[in-house]
Amino acid sequence: MTSFWSLYITLLTLGTLVALTVLLFSVRKGQRPDSTEQTVGHEFDGIAEFDNPLPKWWFMLFVATLLFAVGYLALYPGLGNFKGVLPGYDGIGEDKPFADNQPGWSGVHQWEKEMDKADAKYGPIYAKYAAMPIEQVAQDEAALKMGGRLFASNCSVCHGSDAKGAYGFPNLSDDQWRWGGDANTIKTSILNGRMGMMPAHGQLVGDEGVRNVAAYVLTQLGGRKLPDGETADIEAGRKAFETTCFACHGKDGSGMAMMGAPNLTKPAAFIYGSSFAQLQQTIRYGRSGKMPAQNEFLGNDKVHLLAAYVYSLSQGKQDEKAQE
Ligand code: HEC
Ligand code: HEC
Repeated sequence: MTSFWSLYITLLTLGTLVALTVLLFSVRKGQRPDSTEQTVGHEFDGIAEFDNPLPKWWFMLFVATLLFAVGYLALYPGLGNFKGVLPGYDGIGEDKPFADNQPGWSGVHQWEKEMDKADAKYGPIYAKYAAMPIEQVAQDEAALKMGGRLFASNCSVCHGSDAKGAYGFPNLSDDQWRWGGDANTIKTSILNGRMGMMPAHGQLVGDEGVRNVAAYVLTQLGGRKLPDGETADIEAGRKAFETTCFACHGKDGSGMAMMGAPNLTKPAAFIYGSSFAQLQQTIRYGRSGKMPAQNEFLGNDKVHLLAAYVYSLSQGKQDEKAQE
């Protein structure tokens, strides 16, 4: 803000406060201290107004709001460029300035202080877990609780609070993985992010081809039925699959973790839908899911804890599988 506007706002704000104070006291001065039966003289439908002073408590309320305003404007920013003198806001900590190098209270500065306090408190705990293998952290009740809280505030918007995913966002609690479900791969997915790239095949295989290959995925790989009344050349679909799709999804359709190409024999885990129509949509126009990298925002230690939490979610499931 230029100093002209800063001064303008300051004078306008303080001027208003002064004017209100003058108004409040001048009106009070003109009033008699005790109540009276005398009315102010006008009358509406038989209702008249007594000429009594404001009750004292009411008057004091006005005074209190004025004092509050002055106190607030002294402590917090509000008067142009003046930053307020709230103590403890000359920096994050000892000799550590705020990110914008300015002193004084602001929402961002308060957030920075709280983050710094939390880091000081939890940093050593995160560091302790970060030094342990993820599989071992995933056995630790207290660590999983912290991981669960981190998940709720950073991941649940996309993956759901139960980590079961949603349209376009994979379920992290089952045993189906696009990029891999071992502990370190999960950590890499979170730390660096992932970008799934399913190219559009409409041009390449043509309309008929899209139908046929979708029917092949649905019935032969997915073990489901075509919707009533729909027909397709499933043999032609197989040929198309084995010439164009296998490069990423594998000859048997079981997927390829290196490219994040999902297993097409598990339609229940498809994130873009497994109906005949949705499969054609996916194949015709392609898909590109993006998992944002968390390294810069959360840092290694928190991601380590998150990886342990995510890893723990699917463990029961794999054990059940092994026992079957
Ligand atoms: C260049 C590699 C590549 C080729 C070729 C490829 N895919 Fe994909 N496919 C992927 C990737 C990667 C994804 C995941 C996209 C994402 O996560 O957004 C995917 C996703 C899909 C999905 C969506 C699964 C879900 O979770 O909803 C289907 C269905 C699919 N592919 C079928 C096919 C078929 C059929 C072909 C051949 C016509 C094919 N793909 C060719 C890489 C490929
Ligand atoms: C903006 C939405 C978004 C947020 C926030 C997000 N994710 Fe993701 N995540 C995705 C998408 C989309 C994918 C799938 C990428 C693909 O198409 O391959 C994904 C994939 C993943 C994978 C790989 C899954 C697999 O099958 O291999 C893991 C692990 C993961 N996310 C964990 C997390 C964690 C932990 C957080 C919180 C720190 C998080 N995600 C936050 C959107 C998000």
